[in-house]
Amino acid sequence: MSDYQSFTLEPFTRVVGARITGIDMSKPLSDKAKEEIFDAYAKYSVLSFPGQDISPGAQVEVARMFGTPDAPRKFRLYDEKNHPLVGLIEQDGSEDFIVGEAWHSDNMDYENPYASLVMYQEVSPGVGGDTLFSCMYSAYNALSKPMQEFLEGKTALNDNTRTSYSAKLNKNYTDKGKETPDAVEHPVIRTHPVTGKKLLYVNPAFTTQIVGLSLGESDAILNYLFNLVATRPDFQCRHIWDAGTLVVWDNRSLQHYAVPGYKGLRRMRRVEVRGDRPYY
Ligand SMILES: [Fe+2]
Repeated sequence: MSDYQSFTLEPFTRVVGARITGIDMSKPLSDKAKEEIFDAYAKYSVLSFPGQDISPGAQVEVARMFGTPDAPRKFRLYDEKNHPLVGLIEQDGSEDFIVGEAWHSDNMDYENPYASLVMYQEVSPGVGGDTLFSCMYSAYNALSKPMQEFLEGKTALNDNTRTSYSAKLNKNYTDKGKETPDAVEHPVIRTHPVTGKKLLYVNPAFTTQIVGLSLGESDAILNYLFNLVATRPDFQCRHIWDAGTLVVWDNRSLQHYAVPGYKGLRRMRRVEVRGDRPYY
């Protein structure tokens, strides 16, 4: 529990994720409520608001609280005519590939991956379709000082064509795996523009090589870092959705993983909040 005045907050873990109740996100919020939400967001990176009745328009307004909403660059639209900023993910679990079934941050094949995502579950498959989140501040902090110093200031190549994840695309993507002309260089250790904290910024869905190292050296270090993220439950939380759950998550400080294996329609609306170019 927390001492916020505008809502009740229950952390999922000490480092990532919190459930917020006692606030109606479909209505304009007071400055105090916004200030408290931003404070909780900086601490937990994932805020889950169950039981919300949010229209697509109201969802865009929630995104506007966190920055400038952008039209999705990869996903098809929920309602192109009336809500051009709202993306759609709709799968029933029977597909070969569930969107997001690897540890990743979204859109790292672009120069400015979005900062935050406002996601709403319209239809739940019942059991399953959860999302795992992993805290990249924790991943950075778990590295030894010499390893932190080795990685700081280095960059890595990120693209959408050379990883096994990016090879599997499906009807939810509008760019159909369109190749980025060149791999994009992002810092291996990134400074979060709001919290000022350092975090690990490589993942197996997009990152292919650390610049300046031989491929063998780079593969060894990247594999170590990917395994660190995948095998440390103390960095992670598991978010269980229900129809009517609104989630805001930080695409900078987190990696996420869409858990496959559900049976039944799962329909999500998503609104992206514009991000800056990552820097060290
Ligand atoms: Fe994703």
